[in-house]
Amino acid sequence: MRAKDRLIVALDVDEFSRAEELVDVLSPEVEIFKVGIAPFTKFGTEILDKLEKTGKKVFLDLKFHDIPNTCAAAAKAALEKNVFMMNFHCLGGKSMMKAASESVKKTSSEARPILLGVTILTSFSEEEMNSIGLGGGVENKVIELARLASDSGLGGVVASAKEAERIKKEIGEDFIVVTPGVRPVWAEKADQKRVLTPKQAVLAGADYIVVGRPIIQAKDPLQAAKKIIKEIS
Ligand code: C5P
Repeated sequence: MRAKDRLIVALDVDEFSRAEELVDVLSPEVEIFKVGIAPFTKFGTEILDKLEKTGKKVFLDLKFHDIPNTCAAAAKAALEKNVFMMNFHCLGGKSMMKAASESVKKTSSEARPILLGVTILTSFSEEEMNSIGLGGGVENKVIELARLASDSGLGGVVASAKEAERIKKEIGEDFIVVTPGVRPVWAEKADQKRVLTPKQAVLAGADYIVVGRPIIQAKDPLQAAKKIIKEIS
């Protein structure tokens, strides 16, 4: 895969005009943009249409978690919107993930989005895991849930770079790992704690890296994206 195809820029902005501006400015270097729950709630599918018009790919990061029939319908809706990648909480269970993956498998392979599982959110501490009845070690749960996602027909997971190595080893090299929480040495960490550099993340096994603020809040976003692509080349 080309280095530039590994970079996903998180469009975490408040104003639609700023989202449009970023897509246009970054367009020469960036192929994939992530639309999360905040921009999607605010801008709706207009943002997806803008990306499609610009010829860019969409990672629809809405982390669905619902009954199988509803998640299958959400996957089908995303497919109709030409989404490149979308995700589901693994805690929704096997029948939910399977229903979603079967709903997109019915289509021609070219338009098929990559379905990812969200294992355990990186913001969870052991204490918080215990409080929802999921004690026993976060890392082991991440692997268990990644395996469940794979058995349910999903193509990969969103996971920290720290987990990427073990996921690849235990589930398989083809199982896609998408990694947020990536910080180049020249960028501020902000609220991200366990960060790795883009190069470290790719070396650890990440197929794609998600980068938001180091690019979208940079004085020169295009230059920042170029620097990151160079680092992972
Ligand atoms: O600005 P920053 O590079 O920290 O943005 C990372 C993006 O990845 C944000 O959109 C954030 O919601 C998302 N994300 C994350 N950690 C996770 C899952 C998603 O930072 N575990």
